[in-house]
Amino acid sequence: MARLQLNKLEKIYGGGFKAVHGIDLDVQDGEFMVLVGPSGCAKSTTLRMIAGLEEVTAGEIRIGERIVNALPPGKRRIAMVFQNYALYPHMKVRSNLAFGLRLAHVPKAERDAAVDEVARILEIEPLLDRLPKQLSGGQAQRVALGRALIKKPEVFLFDEPLSNLDAKLRASMRVRITQLHKRLKAEGMSSTVVYVTHDQTEAMTMGDRICVMKDGHIMQVATPKELYDRPANLFVAGFIGSPEMNVMDGQISDGAFHIGTQSVALDAGLMQRLQSRPDQAAFGIRPQHLRLSGHDGLRARLQSVEFMGHEVYLHAELDGHQITSVATAADYEAIGTDDDAIHLTPEPGQGHVFDRHNGTNVSLPVAV
Ligand SMILES: Nc1ncnc2c1ncn2[C@@H]1O[C@H](COP(=O)(O)OP(=O)(O)OP(=O)(O)O)[C@@H](O)[C@H]1O
Ligand SMILES: [Mg+2]
Repeated sequence: MARLQLNKLEKIYGGGFKAVHGIDLDVQDGEFMVLVGPSGCAKSTTLRMIAGLEEVTAGEIRIGERIVNALPPGKRRIAMVFQNYALYPHMKVRSNLAFGLRLAHVPKAERDAAVDEVARILEIEPLLDRLPKQLSGGQAQRVALGRALIKKPEVFLFDEPLSNLDAKLRASMRVRITQLHKRLKAEGMSSTVVYVTHDQTEAMTMGDRICVMKDGHIMQVATPKELYDRPANLFVAGFIGSPEMNVMDGQISDGAFHIGTQSVALDAGLMQRLQSRPDQAAFGIRPQHLRLSGHDGLRARLQSVEFMGHEVYLHAELDGHQITSVATAADYEAIGTDDDAIHLTPEPGQGHVFDRHNGTNVSLPVAV
């Protein structure tokens, strides 16, 4: 069991490219931390430095009380699960699981007991005498998890472990991994996790907290709910949530936000929270909070409608901005649209104001 701390961690690759810009991250003992961000933002680089597979340029990595910068991967008490889990094809599942312990000269009786325990936890007992080629993708991924689990590491590191699986299997493995994490925690076993993904659904559903990265910088570290409700900047606002948050440029005056020829009243709560009044501002509102209304509200020109079952996504143009509103199918039918003009009203208390210069959300309550 261990806490993991990154202090001013930096990585400059051989060619001089700075991939990680002195990041600080504190993962609590037993916490499930997700690193998420677009391709190239240095999620894998960060994880590989924690694992000891990549040299640290500057800064410090601490696992529990130990600074591990100089330790080889085998001495760090970590286990890693990759996208390409590569089981040994000529070995049965049982031997694949026990392989690491055999290398470490663990006696056979102890190895067998460890294999049995891991197989029980992962519910793969019926698969122990099969070869990898006799497993489905999901079963093989569970065996790969088992190989990590059997090492009883202090920290589990996952790098996009589910990205090779189809959508349905990914969804069920997602649940399995979070359940496994809860179970390990309940049984008092080590369960600190750093899980890398570029999939925001995985991040939102699996993480106790999420660390959003961009270009080797951390943009925000928070719980899924906090990231969704209180994004610190335009990048996080756009990255978390689906469909993406609507962002409209304009100015604030007289308690309203002016977008081209139209304006939207800013509620008293939001006005009070404003830490500054940027001259170039952006109003942000999630599609779920932009309500289809009868005749009042912002006028927009409907361009297309996507039926998603009980919801519809209305894609529209509003004073040069491409926006989306999520309505229930029932509301959409009840209000209808004679022509392509629709009216949309932001739900009070749900809007955000961003400073266009640096992207900062200036409508968050000041932290106390
Ligand atoms: N060995 C290397 N030498 C030089 N640059 C590298 C090396 N490995 C990665 N990079 C660069 O470092 C940056 C971060 O790469 P990294 O693989 O950590 O990104 P990532 O967030 O894991 O992306 P993805 O989602 O595509 O896996 C990228 O710009 C990449 O091109
Ligand atoms: Mg990667």
